[in-house]
Amino acid sequence: MKKVPHDYYLRFIDASVYEEVLEFHSKGNFTLHKAFQHHTSLHFLDEGHLAQLTGNELVLYPDMDLTVELKLSDEHRKGLLYRNESCERFVPGELEFADVEKLVSPLLSMNTESYKRGYPSGGALYPAEVFLCSLSNECSTWPGAGKILHLLPKSRRFEVMQVETDLEKLKAAILTPPNDIGSPSLALIYVAYMPKNLFKYRYRGYRMALMEIGSIYMLVELQAKSLGLACRLWSAYTDSMLCKVLGLNPALFFPMCVHFIGRQHESY
Ligand SMILES: Cc1cc2nc3c(=O)[nH]c(=O)nc-3n(C[C@H](O)[C@H](O)[C@H](O)COP(=O)(O)O)c2cc1C
Repeated sequence: MKKVPHDYYLRFIDASVYEEVLEFHSKGNFTLHKAFQHHTSLHFLDEGHLAQLTGNELVLYPDMDLTVELKLSDEHRKGLLYRNESCERFVPGELEFADVEKLVSPLLSMNTESYKRGYPSGGALYPAEVFLCSLSNECSTWPGAGKILHLLPKSRRFEVMQVETDLEKLKAAILTPPNDIGSPSLALIYVAYMPKNLFKYRYRGYRMALMEIGSIYMLVELQAKSLGLACRLWSAYTDSMLCKVLGLNPALFFPMCVHFIGRQHESY
């Protein structure tokens, strides 16, 4: 049985490890809903302190001049690999599905014989799942119009998720107001499937899944840049709402991050 059903992994997990990881993970959940918008806040820092505390590099010896300069000119750097800055505001519009295929192509196995993919995975567990949702009203080239797709990187296929997709509900779960991000065309949702993540390396699996998702989104950022597309990672959503629209059990599937893709507004 090489293609095991997803719940087969449950046989091999340690229930106490699973419970503790789930409990820890739940502490990082946001409840973003209009019913709570006047009752909750993320922090009490003022703009001045926020500006002081973010965007910094950590200097370990600030009082000593112990640095060595990098001798790379900006001109020289332009020829080297770098991503674009995150998109500030997306303009509405549909993406050609052929571009969506190119976007995820760096994640696929090089050939259908190899289990290896375009990104490394601790212990070759591959616990990170990628879901694709079109966010535009028109999706003429999208297969199974309006459907959410699940990437199968080895088979090089998309599974069509068996859920009724209501675009407005999907947007409400991912793009909770207020936000000023405009209208991204596509959302990639990076989800860790926890039974597959924890059965072998237990607690350490959690960090490996996060690193795997980081390497996946960086490949997508670079590929998006080469396709002339803009991106923004997004964590302002409520896990359970997102799982509900995807038709996934939130105790098994942890949505770690959303990646918006589209076209940048001209004024930026
Ligand atoms: C894991 C992750 C989650 C993020 N979530 C959000 C988010 O919820 N909202 C947002 O406006 N930006 C989000 N960002 C984008 C960061 O704010 C942005 O990367 C950072 O300000 C640096 O800007 P740059 O990407 O343009 O270099 C996220 C970035 C990462 C890596």
